[in-house]
Amino acid sequence: MFGCCMLLDYINDRLWFGLDRRICLTEVVASLEGPCYLYDLRHFTKRYEDFRAAFADLRHTIHYAVKANAHPIFLRRIVELGGGADVVSGGELRRALACGMPPERIIFSGVGKSEAELRLAISAGIKQINVESVGEMRRIIALAEALRRPARVAFRFNPSVDAETHPYIATGFRSHKFGIDAEAVMACLALAQQAGRWVQVVGVSLHIGSQIVDVENFAVALRNTRPLVNAMREHGFALATFDVGGGFGIYYDTGDEHRETVNFARYATVVRQGVMGMAEEVLFEPGRFLVARCGILLTRVEYVKTTPYKTFVIVNTGMHHLIRPALYQAHHRILPLVRRPMPAHTVDVVGPLCESSDFLAQGIELTDVQEGDWLAVADAGAYARSMASEYNLHPFPDERFIIE
Ligand code: LLP
Repeated sequence: MFGCCMLLDYINDRLWFGLDRRICLTEVVASLEGPCYLYDLRHFTKRYEDFRAAFADLRHTIHYAVKANAHPIFLRRIVELGGGADVVSGGELRRALACGMPPERIIFSGVGKSEAELRLAISAGIKQINVESVGEMRRIIALAEALRRPARVAFRFNPSVDAETHPYIATGFRSHKFGIDAEAVMACLALAQQAGRWVQVVGVSLHIGSQIVDVENFAVALRNTRPLVNAMREHGFALATFDVGGGFGIYYDTGDEHRETVNFARYATVVRQGVMGMAEEVLFEPGRFLVARCGILLTRVEYVKTTPYKTFVIVNTGMHHLIRPALYQAHHRILPLVRRPMPAHTVDVVGPLCESSDFLAQGIELTDVQEGDWLAVADAGAYARSMASEYNLHPFPDERFIIE
């Protein structure tokens, strides 16, 4: 399945990037003025195809989680590949439609969908809305009846799994704001039954969190959901769709995709067993797994500042372009574009913003770098540009693609 590859690798002490070591990065930065996200679309495509191959024996659709990276080039590629989109706002829904995504391939998740967003979704005739509260169910019924347009709904079940990931990105425990319990699902089902022909219940959805690498978490979630699916069946509802959500994580600490491949095979086994007989079609909502690895953030060293306490490598990007280290204590590898035969030092890599949280890495070993050197921040395809801001009025970085 996934060939073992290193997307970032040195040849003669110069850093190359992309599938098959496609581009020498020193050539890329020669024309750059500021920081830049660089993506290898071929790697994204490969991840999508590998994902599909792992579930070839199962009727399924991959709904790319647009929030991970909403660049139109990724969305158009998903359309070409026959995939769908998982959106969480009216903005993402409009973006997906503008990129040619057929409405019947779009699902809409999220706890706080506004009336305007739901109206847009129902009018567009999307595949399903994943309902996250009884209040939302009532709102959908009222809108579908007023618009005289069918609304297809699935219930996002909270399976009460305490997934092992950063607390800010765990979503499947009973104390989280996400999803509804079995009792609320049954209440929504009863409302849908009374509602008549404009509301159709199609399925159940899950999403227990993000950056989950221990696949046992998914196994428990699926086990905890089966009684609900059985109970719904007893009420006469056979599910058309069962949505497993996204959340499968990558190993940020290493560029070796082999371990990831092995773990993905475990994930596929767990999911295939867990969803057996549940629905006609299984849906997935992966974001990070498809897009994280294929992107890097290129940045220039502005200064190297040494104090009696620390060495700071001050670069022209920071938490405004990659907030993950500051927000989730995430670790992204940072590699110099030119490797010098110099000793490594312990440094903090920090940005220009007026905040002490503005760092990309703290206490890492980096070989001697100098003013004007360029660095590549690895695995910045997911939740980097999509969470970026113009804080301190710094412009957004450019985005470039290796297309074919
Ligand atoms: N489906 C739903 C309903 C979601 O909320 C998410 C992510 C996904 C799918 C995709 O999850 P993925 O496969 O990418 O793990 N900003 C954080 C991640 C937040 C994820 C939010 N929901 C980070 O940078 O780690």
